[in-house]
Amino acid sequence: MRRGSIASLIGLGIVAGGIAAAVALALPWLPTPASNEADRIDPLFWFVIIICIVVFAAVIAVMAYSIIHFRAAPDDLSDGPPIHGHTNLEIIWTLIPTLLVTAIGIVSAVVLSRNDALGANVLRVNVTAQQYAWSFSYPEANGLTSGVLRLPKDRSVLLTFHSKDVIHSFWVPEFSQKQDTVPGITTTLHITPNRLGTYPVICTELCGLGHSVMRTHAIVMTPAAFTKWLHSQATAVASPDAGVAGAAVFKNNQCSTCHTLAAAGASGKVGPDLDKLVTYAQTAGQPLATFIRQSIVDPNAYVEKGYPKSVMPATFGSALSKQQLDSLVQYLISSSKKG
Ligand code: CUA
Repeated sequence: MRRGSIASLIGLGIVAGGIAAAVALALPWLPTPASNEADRIDPLFWFVIIICIVVFAAVIAVMAYSIIHFRAAPDDLSDGPPIHGHTNLEIIWTLIPTLLVTAIGIVSAVVLSRNDALGANVLRVNVTAQQYAWSFSYPEANGLTSGVLRLPKDRSVLLTFHSKDVIHSFWVPEFSQKQDTVPGITTTLHITPNRLGTYPVICTELCGLGHSVMRTHAIVMTPAAFTKWLHSQATAVASPDAGVAGAAVFKNNQCSTCHTLAAAGASGKVGPDLDKLVTYAQTAGQPLATFIRQSIVDPNAYVEKGYPKSVMPATFGSALSKQQLDSLVQYLISSSKKG
């Protein structure tokens, strides 16, 4: 090979690699990590990207060089000379990718096993996925359920996933991990949040018409604020006063996102106005208590005119404990009678 060829190959490689590196670096592809696991995944991601950029530069350099220097004349219709194998070249192009893929495999395995290692004093959260909502329950707080995932900073959290219907997938971009939720299978994900803030929880598996709205938030709190929230909510939900318990269930399960209820200061407009439950029950021809319970346990049995069907998760009520369901029904009865 002539020295000039090597120089122009290297030149072309630098140009191609430079463009790819600029695209990788100039755009904010990844969010700022918010967990110990993401802090390990991010460098792994860049390790793979750097390898990709080098391979890309080499391939583009050879390709561009060939296009420039070995171009056939416009009237040349021949097939070109037959080329037989080149053993050394074949060994090189087998060996290099083998080494690179093995390196990626080893580094990934190390990151995975470190990310799966639980810390001390693990917080367990049961996650229920269903069309089209997430529900988080805390066994530590007598099964308190919440529509928002609240987590303490710097504590090992083990999420255990169950799906009520189809395959969904849990994703918080700032945590860099995804986990499918599969009907009939229990899956888990280990997270150690290390940055305070509110992050989106996104369903990243096409799961039906409402897939794009199957979103909520993960809120990383200081351990003190988290413990305070957990205890106050657990106490409120277990309160013998249905007004207190039901209000806590209503608030924690994000009912106000879709419903209006003056007593809760809620002004959602997606679903029926809960201040009008007495009228709705009359229209449906049912006693108020029966109507409210049915609307929570089997929301599609009767949908008030003018509101969309199948938006409220069909099994919403089954994520609640019996006591939480009872207090929510009581709460809605008393507040709608006032309304
Ligand atoms: Cu659940 Cu997409």
